[in-house]
Amino acid sequence: MAQRRRPKITIVGAGNVGATAAHWAAAKELGDIVLVDVVEGLPQGKALDLLEAGPVEGFDVRITGTNSYEETAGSDVIVVTAGIARKPGMSRDDLLKTNYNIVRSVVEQCARYSPEAYLIVVSNPVDVMTYAAWKVSGWPTHRVMGMAGVLDSTRFRTFLAMELGVSVEDISAFVMGGHGDEMVPLVRYSYAGGIPVEKLLPKETLDRIVERTRKGGGEIVSLLKTGSAFYAPGASVVQMVEAIVKDKKRLIPVIAYLNGEYGERDIYVGVPVILGAGGVERVVEIDLTEEERAAFKRSVEAVRKPLQTLEL
Ligand code: LAC
Repeated sequence: MAQRRRPKITIVGAGNVGATAAHWAAAKELGDIVLVDVVEGLPQGKALDLLEAGPVEGFDVRITGTNSYEETAGSDVIVVTAGIARKPGMSRDDLLKTNYNIVRSVVEQCARYSPEAYLIVVSNPVDVMTYAAWKVSGWPTHRVMGMAGVLDSTRFRTFLAMELGVSVEDISAFVMGGHGDEMVPLVRYSYAGGIPVEKLLPKETLDRIVERTRKGGGEIVSLLKTGSAFYAPGASVVQMVEAIVKDKKRLIPVIAYLNGEYGERDIYVGVPVILGAGGVERVVEIDLTEEERAAFKRSVEAVRKPLQTLEL
């Protein structure tokens, strides 16, 4: 029998999102984990600390931290969380260019050492950074994707469960479009225990939940004041890693390349896909009402603008 090895998962960026993703991935024993960061000691320290939790929590995987990409060689999945947040005096375009330069350099190095990997981008603005990562890697589109829809959907599900007073386990819901204020939470395709939520909640309540979902990232930023969300983003990206390494064929929203689907071409944006060992195995097209289609279109336009700024 051919010897199978454990999947190797590289997480670039040992900040809150990267470290939390490493934590969830280790707890689920998804594979050996390499945490990479430019700050000396940070990835090594967090990796060792997490490894030392293994005996208590009962997970048994290799977890290493490094400042060099050599140790990422032969990774199966690479998660890119590296990037900076906007500082006072910086325009959105400044952030865009700074993070583009970071993502470009990260992807170039990762691609050199792991030419067969799947790449999941988390760095913001994530739809644009995913497109940039795809361009830089030169990889086929099914191997390059971004994480936002799982996060936006888990927020949407949380708010629906809170409002209905039912278990989050019984809520299924999803959000399409770009990861910004123009994202499209699809109320019509959202269910509690198989019952359409439109039959359980009044329109005003659903409108309020949709608005809260759209601003979900900002709500956390305004509470934390010094940073942005990381537990739900970390868990969300790990759901995608799990779908790939376990070939689960999850039907979840992912930032995927569109080549005619939903009437769009040459863009990365959030749509439902089948995610498995082949990466983005298929983009799933669903019927949209006129209104939903218009909202999706607006969201796509909001992603195209920064792409033009970067001249990608
Ligand atoms: C959020 C940011 C991190 O949605 O994009 O929390």
